[in-house]
Amino acid sequence: MSAPNKSYDPVEVETLKPEEIERMRDEALAAFAAADSLDALHEAKVAHTGPASPLALANREIGALPPQAKAEAGKRVGQARGAVNKALGGRQGELEAERDARVLVEESVDVTLPYDRVPAGARHPLTTMMERVSDVFVSMGYEIAEGPEAEAEWFNFDALNFTPDHPARQMQDTFFVQGPAGDDAESGVILRTHTSPVQVRALLDRELPVYIVCPGRVYRTDELDATHTPVFHQIELLAVDEGLTMADLKGTLDHMVRSLFGADMKTRLRPNYFPFTEPSAEMDMLCYVCKGESVGNPDRPCRTCSSEGWIELGGCGMVNPRVLTACGVDPEKYSGFAFGFGIERMLMFRHNVEDMRDMVEGDVRFTRPFGMEI
Ligand code: PHE
Repeated sequence: MSAPNKSYDPVEVETLKPEEIERMRDEALAAFAAADSLDALHEAKVAHTGPASPLALANREIGALPPQAKAEAGKRVGQARGAVNKALGGRQGELEAERDARVLVEESVDVTLPYDRVPAGARHPLTTMMERVSDVFVSMGYEIAEGPEAEAEWFNFDALNFTPDHPARQMQDTFFVQGPAGDDAESGVILRTHTSPVQVRALLDRELPVYIVCPGRVYRTDELDATHTPVFHQIELLAVDEGLTMADLKGTLDHMVRSLFGADMKTRLRPNYFPFTEPSAEMDMLCYVCKGESVGNPDRPCRTCSSEGWIELGGCGMVNPRVLTACGVDPEKYSGFAFGFGIERMLMFRHNVEDMRDMVEGDVRFTRPFGMEI
């Protein structure tokens, strides 16, 4: 008969009894099954699988068992924990699927429901056009300058070398607010007929060199019709520095039309007269639609330029030395160039607007196709 196995000394550990392990497992399974939300399941998970859960504590007790009992107890606890984790994963999957299905229903949007349209405001295409043109020059270092719309006659005419008998100074062309000034009266007040008085203000106010661009509203006593409006917009540019020549003016104009109408654009100058520039020119840009190909080509007529190949933009020239002198600038040392053109006209040919009245009526049906840029 073999001797009793002295090394086997069963230790009764309460928590490792098979019934206890089963109870712990069953309680965990029941808790998971009863969890009706992911939050509740999380709580049950902490309680039944966390470091302080009965099964985790039982697992720790295994270490205290004699070697012979460890394997059996380890297997029992391991199986129970495996079953618990499996049940947890299963329930987690069920509850997540339930939540996903519910969210799909709860957060669905019925795109066919009627809704209240709240129209967003937007700036007028004339404003966006002026800003677009200004941006071309601002990116070259020009500053935006402004002046009053009710302007002294002196700024609008005298300083710009308009003689007292110039036709623009007559009542039929200009809105007079105060005046017209008599022979020895002080300068009257008019609504500015162009943005050029801002040239004078800029030269008087600023340090040289001056590089400014002035978008603004101007007034002339025209009847409102398809091609005239008594209130319209111009953009004026003035550069005064040492050594500026007509080549700088031409290069600046070419850069502007390339920026606004495309890389293959160019301008041309035709002789003209303005009292405040000498020499003066009319500036045309290549027709950006036909690029000149409609000229003498009846098979390919162009509506935009009336098959002339060029579109008239506005006036330009080298600042008249008399204007520089009137503004206290030494014409021996400084020279400059200027140009000005109408924004309404540019909007008309750029976007095929046929009637200028559409621009002043403020009907959103006109504005909307330009894009509601805010
Ligand atoms: N002020 C001129 C006009 O209204 C345009 C112009 C501006 C011409 C600058 C020359 C230089 O027609």
